[in-house]
Parts: sequence; structure tokens; C-alpha cells
Amino acid sequence: MNTNTIKISTSQLNLYYGTNHALKDVNMELYTNKITAFIGPSGCGKSTYLKTLNRMNDLIPGVKIEGEVLLDGENIYDSRVDTTLLRKKIGMVFQQPNPFPMSIYDNVAYGPRIHGIKNKSELDDIVEKSLKGAALWEEVSGRLKKSALGLSGGQQQRLCIARALAVEPEVLLMDEPTSALDPISTLKIEDLMDELKEKYTVAIVTHNMQQATRIADHTAFFLVGEVVEYAPTTELFTAPKDSRTEDYITGRFG
Ligand SMILES: Nc1ncnc2c1ncn2[C@@H]1O[C@H](COP(=O)(O)OP(=O)(O)OP(=O)(O)O)[C@@H](O)[C@H]1O
Ligand SMILES: [Mg+2]
Repeated sequence: MNTNTIKISTSQLNLYYGTNHALKDVNMELYTNKITAFIGPSGCGKSTYLKTLNRMNDLIPGVKIEGEVLLDGENIYDSRVDTTLLRKKIGMVFQQPNPFPMSIYDNVAYGPRIHGIKNKSELDDIVEKSLKGAALWEEVSGRLKKSALGLSGGQQQRLCIARALAVEPEVLLMDEPTSALDPISTLKIEDLMDELKEKYTVAIVTHNMQQATRIADHTAFFLVGEVVEYAPTTELFTAPKDSRTEDYITGRFG
């Protein structure tokens, strides 16, 4: 795996929610223009890990984080880091589609406007490009001024991806982005992933192991806060090195 360029590297990462030791000595690299999947049973720390990558856990009272998360070699937990800029570089899409209660256009333009873009034709271009990037443009180009809440769940999730793309991130974090969607919307998002990785570094949490095998270059198996095994996806699923990984992927527990 060391032939790839490292985008994010975490070393000896520990996270505590009060006394709950939720991440234990996590050492892992995410590679540029690759998709990395995180799998494992409920409560094992997948979302927690994902959120440490753009400092979303900082906002939770009582959280203690030790260790290092490097983005392009720079520690994102350095006190000089501006978290707003960090989250512009590292975007996130959540399990439940969460469009803002405003028009489709305004949802996508929201981030760019916050970052100071006011020019209408520039915003128009960003909105179109982002919606195209999220494979939603054709379905919504005639109703951009209509409420985003009128979209189907699958469309709303692609809108959330477009909203994340609009600020030109480098990394896209996705926490079970298709678990609330029907199989067709799921396939659309999976197809989209392949295109996204040409431009971005993608990390995705999924409970769907077929999904991981379909889309991810590398997969990490989490168990009670630890990364038990991290390998190229085909290797992890066909020749796991750890018996706990094997038990999980063959459905013996979890
Ligand atoms: N905001 C929080 N405050 C306190 N404890 C939390 C918080 N978020 C998560 N935890 C705890 O941290 C541990 C890991 O949770 P996390 O949400 O990362 O698991 P997960 O692997 O994403 O699970 P799931 O597959 O169910 O989404 C669990 O014990 C959980 O209860
Ligand atoms: Mg989770």
C-alpha cells in the first residue's frame, strides 16, 4: 500500500468521551484519489474516527483527543489551524440527508457564499458544476429555485454531496451515506463515488460489506475502538489476516 500518496495520516490517535475510550491507538493512512471504507459492528468507533478527521468531535463537551492527524503532513489539531478552513478542505456527508430548508440553488451556494463569493454568474457556475459533479443536475436544473425539501431522499443525499463539493474540498468524508436510500439511489451514489475519487480523497463508513467491496480501494475493520486490520479491500475480504476480521466478514459476529 505504500506506492500511494498519503493524504491523511493518523498516528497513535486516542479519543475519550469522558471515561469512554472510543478510539485506541489508531494508526492509519488515507491515500490520495482512493476510497477507503470503514467497517465494523455498531459502536466500534467508525463515526468517531471519521469525525476526528475534520475536527467535528471538538464540539462535544468532555472529549479528549491524543495523538496526531496529519493532512498533507500538517497536524490539523495544531492550535493555529482555522477549523472553518479545515472543514472547507475536508467536507462531510451524513447518514440522513440533511438539506437546509431553502431552495436547491441556495443549498449548494451556501458554502461558497460563506466563503465570500457574491457574484451571481460565479455562483451559478459553481451550482451547476457541483450538481453535475453529484449527478443531480439533469434531475433538478429546471427547479433550482424550488425547495430542497421537495426532493426524494436519494436526490436530497446527492444534493448534500453537491453542497459538500461546492466549496471544492480535497477530502470527502461520508458516514453511511446510502443507508437511508433505496437500492437504485444507492447504486447512483456508488457510481458517483468512482468519479469522485478522480478528484478527491474519499473515506466512507458503511455497514454494507458488498458496498465496501464494490467501491473501496482499501478497507479498515474496526472493533471496540481499534483498527484490527487495514488492507486493500480484496485482500481484507478474501484473505483476512486476523481471525476477528474473518469472523466479522463471514457473519459469525457483529
Ligand atoms: N457524542 C458522544 N458522546 C459520548 N459518547 C459517544 C458520542 N458519540 C459516540 N459515543 C460513543 O463512542 C463509541 C463509538 O461510537 P461511534 O458512533 O463512533 O460508533 P460507530 O462505529 O459509528 O457505530 P454505528 O455503526 O452504530 O454508527 C460508542 O461507545 C458510543 O456510545
Ligand atoms: Mg456511526
